[in-house]
Amino acid sequence: MFEIKARDAMGRLGVITINGKKIETPTIMPVIHPNPKKQTVSMDLINKLADVVITNSYITYTTPELREIAETKGIHELIDFKNVVVTDSGSFQLSVYGDVNVGPMEIIDFQEKIGVDVGTILDIPTGPDVSREKAESDLLETFKRAKDSIKRRKEMGYKLALNGTIQGSKYLDLRQKSAEVMGKMDFDIYPIGAVVPLMEDYRYREVAEVILNSKMHLPTNKPVHLFGCGHPMLFALSVALGCDLFDSAAYALYAKNGRYLTAEGTLHLEDMKDLKSFPCTCKVCSEYTPKQLFNLEEKEKTRLLAEHNLYVTFEEIDRIKNAIKEGNLWELVEERCRSHPKLLNGLRVISKYMDFIEKHDPVSKKSGFFYTGYESMDRPEIYRHKQRLERIQYDKIYVTSVSENTSKPYHENLSNVPCDVDVLIKDSVFGLVPLNIDTMYPLAQNEVPDLYDFEKKYNNEFVSEFREKHTEKILDISTYNYYINHYGKKKDCDKINPDIFRIGKMLEYQYGAKILDDELMGKVKSRRSKNTGRIRNLLLEKEVLFTLRANDNFLIPAKYGAELLHEKLEFPNYRIVIDSSVEEFARAGKSVYSKFVKDCDHELRPFEEVLIVNSDDDLLAYGTTILNGQELMEFDYGVAATLRGGIK
Ligand code: GUN
Repeated sequence: MFEIKARDAMGRLGVITINGKKIETPTIMPVIHPNPKKQTVSMDLINKLADVVITNSYITYTTPELREIAETKGIHELIDFKNVVVTDSGSFQLSVYGDVNVGPMEIIDFQEKIGVDVGTILDIPTGPDVSREKAESDLLETFKRAKDSIKRRKEMGYKLALNGTIQGSKYLDLRQKSAEVMGKMDFDIYPIGAVVPLMEDYRYREVAEVILNSKMHLPTNKPVHLFGCGHPMLFALSVALGCDLFDSAAYALYAKNGRYLTAEGTLHLEDMKDLKSFPCTCKVCSEYTPKQLFNLEEKEKTRLLAEHNLYVTFEEIDRIKNAIKEGNLWELVEERCRSHPKLLNGLRVISKYMDFIEKHDPVSKKSGFFYTGYESMDRPEIYRHKQRLERIQYDKIYVTSVSENTSKPYHENLSNVPCDVDVLIKDSVFGLVPLNIDTMYPLAQNEVPDLYDFEKKYNNEFVSEFREKHTEKILDISTYNYYINHYGKKKDCDKINPDIFRIGKMLEYQYGAKILDDELMGKVKSRRSKNTGRIRNLLLEKEVLFTLRANDNFLIPAKYGAELLHEKLEFPNYRIVIDSSVEEFARAGKSVYSKFVKDCDHELRPFEEVLIVNSDDDLLAYGTTILNGQELMEFDYGVAATLRGGIK
């Protein structure tokens, strides 16, 4: 059972409930050695830091003294961990040694027997550098084992949750097929497998592509685990691409080699021993100087270094969670991907997948858009804006530039703008910014540095294409001047109220349809804030239709606004259809649970304003969706939309 609480990029701050125990995602599962004597860091610390750990059922199965304890007292007691225990199946040993002494069903039975919370099928990890034929035949074997494992669980009535690992080597179509086939089986978590060799060789472009090609075909309502990823430097990018779980043996393995983890890369303790202090404030780094730690006896040094590695690993997870809440995960990803050029390869390749990524990226965020470098030009916020420019119903368009130091929102700093022409400002980052919508997120909520010449040219092609597409509506300078002379702000605008014209365009951009027709245009009124002087509401006969939300200038409907949207937007646009059994809860303004979603506008993006209707399209309520269109159809647990009000 997986529920999304907050989100940014494709990253999900969520809660997984397994056997009544909860895991907050994204998170890292420390790898625990099933033999307590071989465990590097104390289980007291692990219990304090982690909601979930991963250990190895195969080692437990093949080591008689461990097996006996596991079979009599259970896996939780063997490793001394109270919350969720995940086990791997021996597949990793299979990839290293070429063979294992256990069968695919035997290991499923064993994982159930020892009380594991989430077990793993005995999948075949296929490395990246094998022939396609080999990758395909391995994949077919993994499919067979997957099917048999699910069947076994069902037949035996096991309560074991199961990991269904995605394989397919470096062949992206095989990854897609793997996700599609495995996604249809009833697995609880989908790990992406056999990425360790890619990560060891810094092949992060391929890692990113493997993640995306898997995610594209996996069900959205199941958590995804990036198997074998334990270096904190990779977490931000992987979370932004939709990975929810990681596992780390790295904290202990690196410590054994004297390596000190940071979120930007790895350092060697030996190289740090002359520093006065560590560049970290964890418990270990505050208590020891580098020299003191370096001079400790080997076992103690390894233990303390492993503790530090674990602290920074969890610290990075917390930083990512906070970035998701604040809506600045892309900024963190861009920062992290600058710490190694090969990571930048990973970031750059994702622009190819923006059509997919954009569907999951929230339409509005708490934080403004910060430009951190050339790669920011390919972020989903910009991709979406360029698409949504086509939602505006243009009559006359004038494309122009403003001087570089004009601050945003542009319209507040320009004079002589006619009120019934769509003036579009060429913008190096956002392509084109229509003056009438220039207060809406992210067009005013952004910070961009002084750009270099090559950056300024980035959108030239986009602007030319836009001009070509709308060529018959584009005004030349003399016609534009005519409009300024007749309808410029200096003269009274007799035909139209500029604020109403503006709100009409904003509604088109936000909802993709004309909401204010000519008749309404003449009737509605706008109201400005006494404090800021900015447009605040749209009213019809003293009733508020919409409020312009202060932070992003989105038009938030009140009851009459929702009714107007319902009238003007064709079914199923901007709608969530719910089951008749919960109609009364919706009318009372209670949250909508995904279990009761019957249908929806499949194009919805996270955090859009939505109408809640029944199967007859009667308006029941209005609110904000947490899930996108695909997720609304796939999730059957947790809140789908929060409501602003019900229609009695
Ligand atoms: N650990 C690291 N990679 C893998 C993998 O592909 N499959 C399994 N089961 N475990 C892993």
